[in-house]
Amino acid sequence: MVVWSPFRFNSGLKMANRFAIAPLTTDSSHEDGTATEHELEFVRRRAASGFGAAISSAAYVEQDGRSWQGIGAAHDGHLSSLHRLAEAMRAAGGLAILQIYDGGRIAKPELIGEQCLRAPSAVASLRPGAKTPRAMTANEVESLIANFREAACRARKAGFDGVEIHGANHYAIHQFFSPRANHRVDHWGGTLSKRMNFPLAVAQAVRDALGPKLIAGFRVTPFESEAGGYTLEDAKLLCHELAGLNLDYISVSLDDYRSSRPMRETRVYDGAVERNDAPAENPITEFARVIAGRSAVMASGGIRTCSDAEGAINMGADLVAVGRAVVVDPEWLCKVRSKREASILAGLPKDELEIAGALSIPPRMLDYLLSRPGWIPRL
Ligand SMILES: Cc1cc2nc3c(=O)[nH]c(=O)nc-3n(C[C@H](O)[C@H](O)[C@H](O)COP(=O)(O)O)c2cc1C
Repeated sequence: MVVWSPFRFNSGLKMANRFAIAPLTTDSSHEDGTATEHELEFVRRRAASGFGAAISSAAYVEQDGRSWQGIGAAHDGHLSSLHRLAEAMRAAGGLAILQIYDGGRIAKPELIGEQCLRAPSAVASLRPGAKTPRAMTANEVESLIANFREAACRARKAGFDGVEIHGANHYAIHQFFSPRANHRVDHWGGTLSKRMNFPLAVAQAVRDALGPKLIAGFRVTPFESEAGGYTLEDAKLLCHELAGLNLDYISVSLDDYRSSRPMRETRVYDGAVERNDAPAENPITEFARVIAGRSAVMASGGIRTCSDAEGAINMGADLVAVGRAVVVDPEWLCKVRSKREASILAGLPKDELEIAGALSIPPRMLDYLLSRPGWIPRL
């Protein structure tokens, strides 16, 4: 079966099988952006089941871009914590990939101070209570790109096998690409091709910082669910350009890998008007066609069984990333591999002490998981 076969990236590094742990923020780091023992244990335990790769929770590259209390890769004081994280992620010899991000307009005002909120343009997100950011100056944009580059250098120094750029899920890179969030008229916005400039500049900077022998990946949301947002066709053009930068993989972030249209948001967005020009073709298939083997395609969203993973591969993915299933069951991959899928835990137990103890889920992560109704199944 393809899912258990090895995969070699452009960089030459190899995954022993096609399964990766998806990036999973624990919201549980120390205030200074270093990892706590509890979150290292969360990762170590899940990686120990033999994933070909683990992708870390997103690490911030600038203090003012923090969207939660997570890990940082923003200065050299973070190096030893990053080193410990890479070790934990390699618990069973899989590859360790650091995800890096900036929150832009959805950075958390309580963490950074409301006056520090900055984004491509002074346009608030539709999230309830969202504050209006100020528009970044051209110098600030350049400096953010440099900080992505520096964070990638730190990942290399800390011993990671590569970096995934978080270009998805409404964070800063996504905002630069979105016509809803980016109203700039300079090099960084205006036309579709100018809205690509920031994601491409970050990807080039990270590729350069890592050199050709480490993995550079990019995570993308294939379409925006709101009217006037970017379309699958726009995202395909971005992927075409990204693949031209010799990225090792492009990760498609979906709530359900089978869906060919944006799913209804589980959060309530005031004033959101859903788009009705939903694409007919599945984004994984479409991206695989455009990327045409130049980079690997990683699929995610709703993968809970071996046949789900095979389904994503049949749609054109080379790799799959698994999120909530491994949160709920740290032994998920062992059970899938040994054909004991019937014993996979279907949801988090009712008892919160049991969740913390038996599943090694840090308490703040649990609060985060439960903050979005329906996001994670309960027994
Ligand atoms: C608790 C939690 C934290 C997450 N943190 C991140 C993150 O840091 N970066 C990211 O790209 N996606 C993040 N995601 C999204 C997952 O990587 C994944 O794409 C999503 O959960 C859908 O896949 P699944 O159905 O296998 O969970 C997170 C999801 C959950 C449940």
